[in-house]
Amino acid sequence: MEEKLRDCESDDHHSMHLMQATKPQSDSSMTNDRSNSLEASCFTQSWRPDVQLTPSSQVKDLVYDRSVQSPESLPMDLLEYVCLSYMSQTLTWLEQGDNLQYARSGHWKLYMQWIRRCLDEHPSFDSKDLVAEANLKAARDEIASSESGSVVLTMIDVIGKNLRQIFMRETETLQLMVEGDLHRFYRSAFGISANRNIAEFIGLLADKNQGLSVLEIGGGSGGTTYNVLERLRNADGTSKAAKYRFTDVSPGFLAKAADKFSRDAAIMEFSKWNSS
Ligand SMILES: C[S@@+](CC[C@H](N)C(=O)[O-])C[C@H]1O[C@@H](n2cnc3c(N)ncnc32)[C@H](O)[C@@H]1O
Repeated sequence: MEEKLRDCESDDHHSMHLMQATKPQSDSSMTNDRSNSLEASCFTQSWRPDVQLTPSSQVKDLVYDRSVQSPESLPMDLLEYVCLSYMSQTLTWLEQGDNLQYARSGHWKLYMQWIRRCLDEHPSFDSKDLVAEANLKAARDEIASSESGSVVLTMIDVIGKNLRQIFMRETETLQLMVEGDLHRFYRSAFGISANRNIAEFIGLLADKNQGLSVLEIGGGSGGTTYNVLERLRNADGTSKAAKYRFTDVSPGFLAKAADKFSRDAAIMEFSKWNSS
């Protein structure tokens, strides 16, 4: 196979590459076939912007997922309301008896100060108030009415209900997040566009450099991995990548990831890696 790479400058802002694979022609009688197939290729070739020729200031525009709702249309205020309720209960508890001992230093202290600041910014919020209770129920119902909202609500609940245990060091936040379905959260919580943006960026690199190798550090529950692997998939199910090394400092994630991404077993490698 002879590979032709055709560059064309479409305007000042975008450079495009068309990767076109053609078979070497040994017989001149095939000229017509060739020209027919080139014509047909207009309908079958995918044109993609070349990220390596695009100024970094414009890469964001290329990969940014425009399907994500704008922050204004997300019920962030409703989510905040639900969080404030758990934070208020936790602060009340912290300020009782000897409980301040759990927030005396380090990030525990910063965490408590942040909770206090958030509540100070909402002086009218009183979780014991009947109106607040009704508002809370309405907020929860509205958030839960969408799939992506219910994923976030599940995560808020699992953390919120265990905030005391977290302060008392009786439970690990990450463990709770895994129980709250961290993988599903990274895949479908609203406002989560980073994974799709990363996937699109790597996909654009792979469109030009077939057979690339990917190293993921801190792969965790595999939310990013899933999006990247799907973006790298060819029509026949194979991958545009030759190798994908999934790493995390917590070995517990590795076996789960190997299970999850068995479809791409031919290119996957899993190893423990501490980046610090
Ligand atoms: C935000 S989470 C992972 C997000 C991931 N994209 C996902 O979809 O689950 C960050 C991950 O980095 C890992 N991590 C934290 N410190 C690390 C380190 N020093 N080296 C490598 N991985 C680390 C954590 O174990 C965790 O899985």
